Amino acid sequence: MGFDANRPDLLIGVIGAGAMGRGIAQVAAAGGIRVRLTDAKPGAAQEALKFIDGMLKRAAEKGGMTTEQATAATARIQIVDGPADLTPCQAVIEAIVENPDVKQKLFAELEAIVADDCIIASNTSSLSVTLLANKLKHPGRFAGFHFFNPVPLMRLVEVIDGVLTEPWVGDALMALGRRMTREPVRVKDAPGFLVNQVGRGYSLEASHLVSEGIASFVEVDRVMRDVGGFRMGPFELMDLTALDVTQPASELLYAQFFHEARYRPSLVMRSRLDAGILGRKVKRGFYDYASGQQAVAPEATAPSARPQSVWVSQAEPGGHSALTQLLDKLGAPVEAGAKPSARALIFVTPLGEDTTTCALEQGLDPRRTVAVDTLFPMAKRRTIMTCPITEPAFRDAAHGLLASDGVPVVVAKDSPGFIAQRIIAMIVNIGCSVAQNQTATPADIDKAVTLGLNYPHGPLAFGDRLGPERILKVLNNMQRVYGDQRYRPTLWLSRRARLGVSLLTLDN
Ligand code: NAI
Repeated sequence: MGFDANRPDLLIGVIGAGAMGRGIAQVAAAGGIRVRLTDAKPGAAQEALKFIDGMLKRAAEKGGMTTEQATAATARIQIVDGPADLTPCQAVIEAIVENPDVKQKLFAELEAIVADDCIIASNTSSLSVTLLANKLKHPGRFAGFHFFNPVPLMRLVEVIDGVLTEPWVGDALMALGRRMTREPVRVKDAPGFLVNQVGRGYSLEASHLVSEGIASFVEVDRVMRDVGGFRMGPFELMDLTALDVTQPASELLYAQFFHEARYRPSLVMRSRLDAGILGRKVKRGFYDYASGQQAVAPEATAPSARPQSVWVSQAEPGGHSALTQLLDKLGAPVEAGAKPSARALIFVTPLGEDTTTCALEQGLDPRRTVAVDTLFPMAKRRTIMTCPITEPAFRDAAHGLLASDGVPVVVAKDSPGFIAQRIIAMIVNIGCSVAQNQTATPADIDKAVTLGLNYPHGPLAFGDRLGPERILKVLNNMQRVYGDQRYRPTLWLSRRARLGVSLLTLDN
């Protein structure tokens, strides 16, 4: 159709001038687009314009644009009374309350006002784009245009094609997004679209493992920052986004996926939501914020105990080699025999198995067995775990030894996949599911997740770095030990791992 995102006189409408609508109007205006902004609440659009003006002036002060450019951008935004004033717009972006009935009513009203080829787009973060379009006379002109908060700082925008969206509409929104200086990615309608689907892997797997008593939320946050390379741990992140946002979103996504086990929400999070322990905004979440700062208990000091001798299982050759190298550096008395001596501390290095399974299947003494996570670099923090009957003396000796060069050690309870292995395997697997379901291209999945969630790597690149065959092993073992479909590997992952190719590989 005739939409030209680059025409100098392009005019768009933005409905809803809240946190998102004002950000969308700001980046559109900064990209040279004329904007008509409206909000149902009296005075809200005016207040938003004042806010935008302040933001643009601040951007000019910081050197992001000239003062003239900032003034010109503000001048491109016109406040209008309501949808009836949006007739001449070539595209309208809706950013009102997240309620399907209210949105559908607005779209029906809009359709009677705008031209037949005007694009209607929704910034919904959780509703089906296909469903939102189903009362329209021309559902082909409708698409999702999902920005991230705060819009001016978050460059990602997901362009979502519903089942009936005509291809030119998505193409036009991709071009419009670029003109707004965003990084658009093309996504097929799916629960959670792309980014919010992958993002569930992090928070939900972390919640499940804390619920099972494997580690405390503080320990999980420490491991995911120091070992996984994430900027924020899952629990401090949930404190920031607030449980009254995260938990209903998780529950909705799970329902939309017809109870797919990978997205199963956490009962403990639901209880915390019911109790009102929401996060930073109420000064109490996983952490306490009464002082205005996140209160974090100091790390426990490592025990001074050391083992008489150490034996390392060779069942995982990669883990054996990584751990023996570290033990050599620490000057540990490592035994060379095929079996541990009668008093040796026994180390196993499982991928997705728990300590109990390793000890029993390898015929090792579980009272002396401690598992070490060797899938990740061990330079900044190390994770070990015990089985229910590992003797405290052996646990402390393992802890003391592995912390003897000053690197902190987290001691977890028995867990298939420790902490980082299972959380990252879950993220990789969900990323692979997004690819398998054709929701987005592998390259766009990684791009969107690094831009939208600030993860150190996209899910597919993360899997490639750690080794797809190792991720496959983690998941297969987790599924076997738990007996839970939640951990079953996607075919996208298992095929590429078995074929020995990158997870970014497209089908020929
Ligand atoms: P908000 O509550 O800050 O702003 C919504 C605005 O819409 C309010 O100013 C309200 O007065 C106005 N409004 C409500 N009903 C209206 C109607 N019928 N007509 C015109 N104006 C109406 O909400 P926020 O956070 O800006 O969210 C807006 C949309 O963006 C929702 O669909 C939300 O799911 C989505 N979204 C939100 C994100 C976030 O992090 N806050 C991220 C991505 C998408």
